[in-house]
Amino acid sequence: MRPLNGRPLIRKSATEPRWYEITLESLVLSRRRMTGMLAGTAAAAMLPGSAAAGLQSDDTLTPEGLVTAYNNFYEFGLDKTDPAENAHQLTTSPWTVEIAGEAKKTGTFSIEDVLKGIAVEERIYRFRCVEAWSMVVPWMGVPLAKVLAKFEPTGNAKYVEFTTLKRPKEMPGQRAFGAGIEWPYVEGLRMDEAMHPLVIMVTGLYGKPLPKQNGAPWRLMVPWKYGFKSGKSIVKIRFTERQPRTSWNVLAPNEYGFFANVNPAVDHPRWSQARERRLPSTLFAPNWRETLPFNGYADEVASLYSGMDLRRFY
Ligand code: MTE
Repeated sequence: MRPLNGRPLIRKSATEPRWYEITLESLVLSRRRMTGMLAGTAAAAMLPGSAAAGLQSDDTLTPEGLVTAYNNFYEFGLDKTDPAENAHQLTTSPWTVEIAGEAKKTGTFSIEDVLKGIAVEERIYRFRCVEAWSMVVPWMGVPLAKVLAKFEPTGNAKYVEFTTLKRPKEMPGQRAFGAGIEWPYVEGLRMDEAMHPLVIMVTGLYGKPLPKQNGAPWRLMVPWKYGFKSGKSIVKIRFTERQPRTSWNVLAPNEYGFFANVNPAVDHPRWSQARERRLPSTLFAPNWRETLPFNGYADEVASLYSGMDLRRFY
Protein backbone atom coordinates (compact mmCIF):
# COMPACT_ATOMS: atom_id res chain seq x y z
CA MET A 1 0.00 0.00 0.00
CA ARG A 2 1.69 3.19 -1.10
CA PRO A 3 -0.62 6.17 -1.16
CA LEU A 4 2.26 8.66 -1.24
CA ASN A 5 4.03 10.18 -4.18
CA GLY A 6 1.28 9.49 -6.61
CA ARG A 7 1.38 5.75 -6.24
CA PRO A 8 -1.96 4.11 -6.79
CA LEU A 9 -3.41 2.48 -3.75
CA ILE A 10 -5.01 -0.70 -4.94
CA ARG A 11 -6.96 -3.05 -2.76
CA LYS A 12 -5.96 -6.41 -4.14
CA SER A 13 -8.30 -8.75 -2.34
CA ALA A 14 -11.21 -8.83 0.01
CA THR A 15 -8.92 -9.82 2.88
CA GLU A 16 -6.93 -6.64 2.61
CA PRO A 17 -8.06 -3.80 4.82
CA ARG A 18 -10.41 -1.29 3.32
CA TRP A 19 -9.19 2.22 2.64
CA TYR A 20 -10.61 3.66 5.83
CA GLU A 21 -8.83 1.07 7.90
CA ILE A 22 -5.40 1.66 6.45
CA THR A 23 -5.15 5.04 4.86
CA LEU A 24 -4.12 7.25 7.70
CA GLU A 25 -2.02 4.57 9.29
CA SER A 26 -0.13 3.79 6.10
CA LEU A 27 0.31 7.45 5.36
CA VAL A 28 1.96 7.84 8.72
CA LEU A 29 4.08 4.74 8.37
CA SER A 30 5.31 5.39 4.88
CA ARG A 31 6.03 9.02 5.69
CA ARG A 32 7.92 7.92 8.78
CA ARG A 33 9.92 5.43 6.74
CA MET A 34 10.70 8.09 4.19
CA THR A 35 11.78 10.84 6.49
CA GLY A 36 12.46 9.16 9.80
CA MET A 37 11.08 12.30 11.33
CA LEU A 38 7.77 11.22 12.68
CA ALA A 39 9.06 8.61 15.10
CA GLY A 40 7.59 9.22 18.52
CA THR A 41 4.52 10.88 17.13
CA ALA A 42 3.02 7.68 15.82
CA ALA A 43 0.61 7.14 18.67
CA ALA A 44 -0.83 10.61 18.35
CA ALA A 45 -0.74 10.35 14.60
CA MET A 46 -2.94 7.27 14.60
CA LEU A 47 -5.83 9.48 15.59
CA PRO A 48 -7.31 10.74 12.35
CA GLY A 49 -7.30 14.44 13.15
CA SER A 50 -3.80 14.58 14.49
CA ALA A 51 -2.50 12.26 11.80
CA ALA A 52 -3.42 14.81 9.21
CA ALA A 53 -2.04 17.65 11.30
CA GLY A 54 1.13 15.82 12.30
CA LEU A 55 1.90 14.77 8.78
CA GLN A 56 1.63 18.20 7.27
CA SER A 57 0.96 16.07 4.25
CA ASP A 58 -1.16 17.19 1.37
CA ASP A 59 -1.95 13.63 0.63
CA THR A 60 -4.55 13.03 3.24
CA LEU A 61 -8.00 12.26 1.94
CA THR A 62 -10.19 15.19 0.97
CA PRO A 63 -13.34 14.99 3.09
CA GLU A 64 -16.15 13.18 1.33
CA GLY A 65 -18.53 16.08 1.91
CA LEU A 66 -16.25 18.34 -0.10
CA VAL A 67 -15.62 15.85 -2.91
CA THR A 68 -19.37 15.66 -3.43
CA ALA A 69 -20.18 19.36 -2.93
CA TYR A 70 -17.44 21.21 -4.83
CA ASN A 71 -17.75 20.09 -8.43
CA ASN A 72 -17.32 20.96 -12.05
CA PHE A 73 -20.14 19.50 -14.11
CA TYR A 74 -21.24 22.29 -16.39
CA GLU A 75 -24.27 20.36 -17.58
CA PHE A 76 -25.72 21.29 -14.19
CA GLY A 77 -24.50 24.88 -13.95
CA LEU A 78 -21.34 26.93 -13.71
CA ASP A 79 -21.00 27.32 -9.94
CA LYS A 80 -19.15 24.74 -7.88
CA THR A 81 -22.29 24.04 -5.85
CA ASP A 82 -24.65 23.75 -8.85
CA PRO A 83 -23.95 20.07 -9.62
CA ALA A 84 -24.73 18.92 -6.08
CA GLU A 85 -27.91 21.00 -6.15
CA ASN A 86 -29.14 20.00 -9.59
CA ALA A 87 -27.81 16.55 -10.42
CA HIS A 88 -30.65 14.78 -8.64
CA GLN A 89 -32.65 15.49 -11.82
CA LEU A 90 -30.52 13.03 -13.75
CA THR A 91 -31.82 9.52 -14.46
CA THR A 92 -28.91 7.10 -14.32
CA SER A 93 -30.78 3.83 -14.62
CA PRO A 94 -31.25 2.34 -17.14
CA TRP A 95 -27.95 3.45 -18.72
CA THR A 96 -26.62 2.33 -22.07
CA VAL A 97 -23.22 2.76 -23.63
CA GLU A 98 -22.65 2.85 -27.37
CA ILE A 99 -19.41 1.31 -28.57
CA ALA A 100 -18.41 2.50 -32.03
CA GLY A 101 -15.59 2.81 -34.51
CA GLU A 102 -12.49 0.69 -34.93
CA ALA A 103 -13.43 -2.38 -32.91
CA LYS A 104 -14.70 -5.87 -33.70
CA LYS A 105 -17.59 -5.61 -31.26
CA THR A 106 -19.69 -2.50 -31.59
CA GLY A 107 -23.27 -1.66 -30.69
CA THR A 108 -25.28 -0.47 -27.73
CA PHE A 109 -24.86 -2.26 -24.42
CA SER A 110 -26.26 -1.85 -20.94
CA ILE A 111 -23.71 -0.55 -18.48
CA GLU A 112 -24.16 -3.74 -16.49
CA ASP A 113 -23.01 -5.76 -19.52
CA VAL A 114 -20.09 -3.44 -20.14
CA LEU A 115 -18.87 -3.87 -16.56
CA LYS A 116 -19.74 -7.55 -16.15
CA GLY A 117 -16.87 -9.75 -14.99
CA ILE A 118 -14.49 -6.87 -14.21
CA ALA A 119 -13.55 -6.58 -10.54
CA VAL A 120 -14.05 -3.18 -8.93
CA GLU A 121 -10.91 -1.83 -7.22
CA GLU A 122 -10.45 0.98 -4.75
CA ARG A 123 -7.73 3.48 -5.58
CA ILE A 124 -6.69 6.67 -3.90
CA TYR A 125 -5.64 9.19 -6.51
CA ARG A 126 -4.61 12.77 -6.52
CA PHE A 127 -6.91 14.74 -8.77
CA ARG A 128 -5.75 18.12 -10.12
CA CYS A 129 -8.11 20.56 -11.79
CA VAL A 130 -6.82 22.96 -14.43
CA GLU A 131 -8.17 25.71 -12.16
CA ALA A 132 -5.29 24.95 -9.77
CA TRP A 133 -7.12 23.16 -6.99
CA SER A 134 -6.69 19.52 -6.14
CA MET A 135 -8.10 16.71 -4.05
CA VAL A 136 -7.16 13.24 -2.90
CA VAL A 137 -10.05 10.87 -3.37
CA PRO A 138 -10.65 7.18 -2.70
CA TRP A 139 -12.22 6.21 -6.01
CA MET A 140 -13.73 2.86 -6.84
CA GLY A 141 -13.70 1.65 -10.39
CA VAL A 142 -12.53 -0.72 -13.09
CA PRO A 143 -9.42 -0.47 -15.25
CA LEU A 144 -10.38 1.17 -18.55
CA ALA A 145 -8.04 -1.27 -20.34
CA LYS A 146 -10.25 -4.16 -19.28
CA VAL A 147 -13.37 -2.41 -20.53
CA LEU A 148 -11.80 -1.54 -23.89
CA ALA A 149 -10.35 -5.02 -24.42
CA LYS A 150 -13.85 -6.52 -24.28
CA PHE A 151 -14.71 -4.82 -27.54
CA GLU A 152 -11.58 -5.96 -29.38
CA PRO A 153 -10.25 -2.74 -30.87
CA THR A 154 -8.65 -3.19 -34.29
CA GLY A 155 -5.16 -2.15 -35.33
CA ASN A 156 -6.61 1.10 -36.67
CA ALA A 157 -7.70 2.21 -33.20
CA LYS A 158 -5.16 4.94 -32.38
CA TYR A 159 -7.39 7.04 -30.11
CA VAL A 160 -10.45 6.63 -27.93
CA GLU A 161 -13.20 9.24 -27.83
CA PHE A 162 -15.53 9.53 -24.83
CA THR A 163 -18.90 11.22 -25.22
CA THR A 164 -20.89 12.24 -22.19
CA LEU A 165 -24.63 12.52 -21.84
CA LYS A 166 -26.67 15.15 -23.69
CA ARG A 167 -30.10 15.34 -22.09
CA PRO A 168 -31.17 18.99 -21.74
CA LYS A 169 -34.42 17.97 -20.05
CA GLU A 170 -32.46 16.75 -17.05
CA MET A 171 -29.40 18.98 -17.41
CA PRO A 172 -30.19 22.65 -16.83
CA GLY A 173 -26.71 23.74 -17.87
CA GLN A 174 -27.39 22.38 -21.36
CA ARG A 175 -30.46 24.58 -21.63
CA ALA A 176 -28.73 27.76 -20.50
CA PHE A 177 -26.07 29.70 -22.30
CA GLY A 178 -23.26 28.15 -20.33
CA ALA A 179 -19.53 27.86 -20.52
CA GLY A 180 -19.72 28.03 -24.30
CA ILE A 181 -19.24 24.29 -24.52
CA GLU A 182 -20.77 22.50 -27.48
CA TRP A 183 -22.85 19.69 -26.00
CA PRO A 184 -22.29 16.86 -25.55
CA TYR A 185 -18.99 17.16 -23.71
CA VAL A 186 -16.39 15.07 -25.54
CA GLU A 187 -12.97 13.97 -24.35
CA GLY A 188 -10.31 11.70 -25.79
CA LEU A 189 -7.12 9.81 -25.13
CA ARG A 190 -4.44 8.26 -27.26
CA MET A 191 -4.89 4.48 -27.26
CA ASP A 192 -1.73 3.82 -25.24
CA GLU A 193 -2.83 6.36 -22.64
CA ALA A 194 -6.27 4.79 -22.45
CA MET A 195 -4.78 1.33 -21.95
CA HIS A 196 -2.46 2.48 -19.14
CA PRO A 197 -3.23 0.60 -15.91
CA LEU A 198 -3.63 3.80 -13.89
CA VAL A 199 -6.70 4.82 -15.90
CA ILE A 200 -9.99 3.73 -14.41
CA MET A 201 -13.66 4.12 -15.11
CA VAL A 202 -14.99 5.29 -11.79
CA THR A 203 -18.23 3.85 -10.44
CA GLY A 204 -17.95 4.93 -6.82
CA LEU A 205 -16.12 6.94 -4.20
CA TYR A 206 -15.61 6.64 -0.50
CA GLY A 207 -16.93 3.07 -0.68
CA LYS A 208 -20.30 4.17 -2.07
CA PRO A 209 -21.92 4.32 -5.49
CA LEU A 210 -20.80 7.35 -7.48
CA PRO A 211 -22.90 10.43 -6.65
CA LYS A 212 -24.58 12.00 -9.66
CA GLN A 213 -22.65 15.26 -9.26
CA ASN A 214 -19.42 13.27 -9.59
CA GLY A 215 -20.48 11.64 -12.86
CA ALA A 216 -22.81 8.72 -12.17
CA PRO A 217 -23.16 6.06 -13.24
CA TRP A 218 -19.56 6.08 -14.48
CA ARG A 219 -16.86 8.57 -15.32
CA LEU A 220 -13.32 8.50 -16.55
CA MET A 221 -10.34 9.08 -14.21
CA VAL A 222 -6.92 9.83 -15.67
CA PRO A 223 -4.91 10.89 -12.62
CA TRP A 224 -1.92 12.44 -14.40
CA LYS A 225 -4.05 14.79 -16.51
CA TYR A 226 -5.99 17.90 -15.64
CA GLY A 227 -9.47 17.13 -14.36
CA PHE A 228 -11.28 18.19 -17.52
CA LYS A 229 -10.00 15.05 -19.29
CA SER A 230 -11.99 12.92 -16.87
CA GLY A 231 -15.43 13.10 -18.48
CA LYS A 232 -18.52 12.31 -16.43
CA SER A 233 -21.62 10.28 -17.23
CA ILE A 234 -20.18 8.63 -20.35
CA VAL A 235 -22.63 7.27 -22.94
CA LYS A 236 -20.38 6.51 -25.89
CA ILE A 237 -16.89 5.15 -26.48
CA ARG A 238 -15.57 5.38 -30.02
CA PHE A 239 -12.27 3.99 -31.27
CA THR A 240 -10.77 6.27 -33.91
CA GLU A 241 -7.82 6.45 -36.22
CA ARG A 242 -7.59 10.25 -35.95
CA GLN A 243 -7.26 12.41 -32.88
CA PRO A 244 -10.78 13.23 -31.68
CA ARG A 245 -12.06 16.80 -31.40
CA THR A 246 -12.40 17.40 -27.68
CA SER A 247 -14.69 20.00 -26.10
CA TRP A 248 -12.21 22.19 -24.24
CA ASN A 249 -9.61 21.99 -26.96
CA VAL A 250 -12.17 23.13 -29.52
CA LEU A 251 -13.39 25.91 -27.22
CA ALA A 252 -9.97 27.38 -26.38
CA PRO A 253 -7.10 25.55 -28.09
CA ASN A 254 -4.47 27.92 -26.69
CA GLU A 255 -5.62 27.19 -23.14
CA TYR A 256 -6.54 23.51 -23.15
CA GLY A 257 -4.43 21.07 -25.12
CA PHE A 258 -5.45 17.62 -26.22
CA PHE A 259 -2.91 15.97 -23.91
CA ALA A 260 -3.53 18.15 -20.84
CA ASN A 261 -0.86 16.41 -18.78
CA VAL A 262 -0.39 18.15 -15.45
CA ASN A 263 2.73 20.23 -16.01
CA PRO A 264 3.93 22.86 -13.52
CA ALA A 265 6.33 24.23 -16.17
CA VAL A 266 3.61 25.21 -18.63
CA ASP A 267 1.35 27.98 -17.39
CA HIS A 268 -2.22 28.39 -18.40
CA PRO A 269 -2.21 31.65 -20.44
CA ARG A 270 -4.16 33.32 -17.61
CA TRP A 271 -2.58 31.77 -14.50
CA SER A 272 0.32 29.72 -13.23
CA GLN A 273 0.15 25.95 -13.03
CA ALA A 274 3.17 25.74 -10.71
CA ARG A 275 1.08 25.47 -7.55
CA GLU A 276 -2.29 24.21 -6.48
CA ARG A 277 -4.69 24.69 -3.60
CA ARG A 278 -5.22 21.35 -1.95
CA LEU A 279 -8.81 21.24 -0.78
CA PRO A 280 -10.01 22.00 1.81
CA SER A 281 -8.63 25.46 1.16
CA THR A 282 -9.84 28.71 2.69
CA LEU A 283 -8.94 32.36 2.39
CA PHE A 284 -6.94 32.18 5.61
CA ALA A 285 -5.56 28.69 5.07
CA PRO A 286 -5.25 28.38 1.30
CA ASN A 287 -3.20 25.19 1.61
CA TRP A 288 -0.97 25.85 -1.38
CA ARG A 289 1.41 23.14 -2.52
CA GLU A 290 3.78 22.64 -5.42
CA THR A 291 2.28 20.94 -8.44
CA LEU A 292 4.23 17.88 -9.53
CA PRO A 293 4.93 16.91 -13.15
CA PHE A 294 2.26 14.48 -14.31
CA ASN A 295 0.52 15.21 -11.01
CA GLY A 296 3.05 13.00 -9.22
CA TYR A 297 2.66 10.00 -11.53
CA ALA A 298 5.75 10.67 -13.67
CA ASP A 299 7.43 7.36 -12.78
CA GLU A 300 4.47 5.52 -14.17
CA VAL A 301 3.56 7.56 -17.22
CA ALA A 302 6.40 9.82 -18.41
CA SER A 303 7.61 7.11 -20.81
CA LEU A 304 4.37 7.43 -22.77
CA TYR A 305 5.61 10.83 -23.92
CA SER A 306 9.32 10.22 -24.51
CA GLY A 307 10.59 12.35 -27.36
CA MET A 308 7.57 14.67 -27.26
CA ASP A 309 7.95 18.38 -26.63
CA LEU A 310 5.56 18.72 -23.71
CA ARG A 311 5.53 22.52 -24.02
CA ARG A 312 4.14 22.19 -27.49
CA PHE A 313 1.91 19.24 -26.81
CA TYR A 314 0.32 20.55 -23.63
N1 MTE B 1 -17.55 15.91 -17.34
C1 MTE B 1 -18.67 16.47 -17.84
N2 MTE B 1 -19.54 15.69 -18.50
N3 MTE B 1 -18.94 17.80 -17.70
C2 MTE B 1 -18.07 18.64 -17.06
O1 MTE B 1 -18.34 19.84 -16.95
N4 MTE B 1 -15.95 18.86 -15.86
C3 MTE B 1 -14.57 18.33 -15.80
C4 MTE B 1 -14.54 16.86 -15.40
N5 MTE B 1 -15.54 16.11 -16.14
C5 MTE B 1 -16.87 18.09 -16.51
C6 MTE B 1 -16.65 16.69 -16.66
C7 MTE B 1 -13.73 19.11 -14.91
S1 MTE B 1 -13.25 20.66 -15.46
C8 MTE B 1 -13.29 18.63 -13.71
S2 MTE B 1 -12.15 19.47 -12.78
C9 MTE B 1 -13.80 17.35 -13.18
O2 MTE B 1 -14.79 16.77 -14.01
C10 MTE B 1 -14.40 17.57 -11.81
O3 MTE B 1 -14.69 16.34 -11.21
P1 MTE B 1 -15.31 16.31 -9.74
O4 MTE B 1 -16.45 17.29 -9.72
O5 MTE B 1 -15.74 14.90 -9.51
O6 MTE B 1 -14.22 16.74 -8.80
